[in-house]
Amino acid sequence: MAARQENPYRPGFNQPPVVFAGRRDVLDGAREALEIAAYDGRTPRPLILLGPRGVGKTVTLGEVSELAATEHSWPTVHVEVNLRGEFLPDLVTGLVAAGRVLDGADPQQRRRRIGVTGGRIEAHAFGVGGELQFEAPAGDGTAPDLRGALSRTLQVATDRSAGLVLTLDEVQNADPGELSILFAVIQEHVPDGWPLVIALAALPALRESRGRRRLPTYLERAEWHALDTLPPDESREALAGPAKQAGRPMTPEAADLLLEQSGGYPYAIQVAGHFAWRASHGSRAIGLEHARAAVPRIEADLAHLFRSRWDDASQKEQDYLRAMAAVAGRGELPTGGLVAAELAVPVTSVSYLRARLFRKGTIYREAGGGLHFITPGMGAWIRALDSD
Ligand SMILES: Nc1ncnc2c1ncn2[C@@H]1O[C@H](COP(=O)(O)OP(=O)(O)OP(=O)(O)O)[C@@H](O)[C@H]1O
Ligand SMILES: [Mg+2]
Repeated sequence: MAARQENPYRPGFNQPPVVFAGRRDVLDGAREALEIAAYDGRTPRPLILLGPRGVGKTVTLGEVSELAATEHSWPTVHVEVNLRGEFLPDLVTGLVAAGRVLDGADPQQRRRRIGVTGGRIEAHAFGVGGELQFEAPAGDGTAPDLRGALSRTLQVATDRSAGLVLTLDEVQNADPGELSILFAVIQEHVPDGWPLVIALAALPALRESRGRRRLPTYLERAEWHALDTLPPDESREALAGPAKQAGRPMTPEAADLLLEQSGGYPYAIQVAGHFAWRASHGSRAIGLEHARAAVPRIEADLAHLFRSRWDDASQKEQDYLRAMAAVAGRGELPTGGLVAAELAVPVTSVSYLRARLFRKGTIYREAGGGLHFITPGMGAWIRALDSD
């Protein structure tokens, strides 16, 4: 029996891929921000990543930390906003921990990345494999706590010619009060030129809070990046790269078939790769026959995703999706006009539905105006629903 080889695909959420494809604009922006903070003595404007579920926001934040660690030996404090909208207590705890790591910083120790999971903080040492654990939250996350923790940690960083990255995830959930406390403190210290790089990630709904003025004005000047599906060459890299690296390359024909299933949706690419890898155990390459064998499993897995997107859509949004699926089922490329015609209503009366479905990440629009489901199989899935 062939020895088991670890599956190099990471279908799931918050799971760093073995091959991270694309997102060059974000990484260039982060590299630039790190350089401004490290060499120019200025606090750069924050980066904000916006995108629907499963498009890669969290793992892209992870890449920003990775850049900071490998190019500058800076640690990261990563905090995820909880469903109650709170994040300041975790942030304060993380800052205190980061301060301690920087304080004891020998060059080895500085290569640590600090994450906050629940109340526990872990600092992973790159290349060393060590792990530091801190206990006891430092404060309850009030403004004075935050101001104190940020000031002390950045003072320690500055004294050691280092800096700090702060990544904040699921910001659409954030309590507006907590957000204004954080950005008021940061704005207050802009003249100090803190070596601090901030990257936030949120669902596109965050833009609406911007409209409603619930977002601190400091964020209006942020560098906004919309994350969407990956373009074809990067999708192929994300799909075929891990197999190649693991020593079981994928044939171009197999990749073509799998990409038809996943489109450029990063989560679906990992799912497709995962099942194709499993179907090819004992082989030296992933061929067309393995890809074909994997298709039913990929479809079954993605069906869960389609079901939750469908259940999450209102009755009217479902009507819109059904009309879109019908147009696509006839082999035509759906456009706003064709979908409205299918529904026998004027375009303007349903454009708000289309906009909502964009925001939810159920569909997207290509540059030419054609509408697509975020994973290609959803149209067929909807048509099958109706024929049940
Ligand atoms: N650039 C990429 N290259 C390869 N795989 C990726 C890339 N971006 C994301 N993925 C994969 O896609 C999946 C989803 O990524 P991630 O959890 O970061 O999405 P997300 O946008 O944060 O989703 P959510 O909004 O649900 O938190 C993971 O399996 C991840 O490995
Ligand atoms: Mg995420």
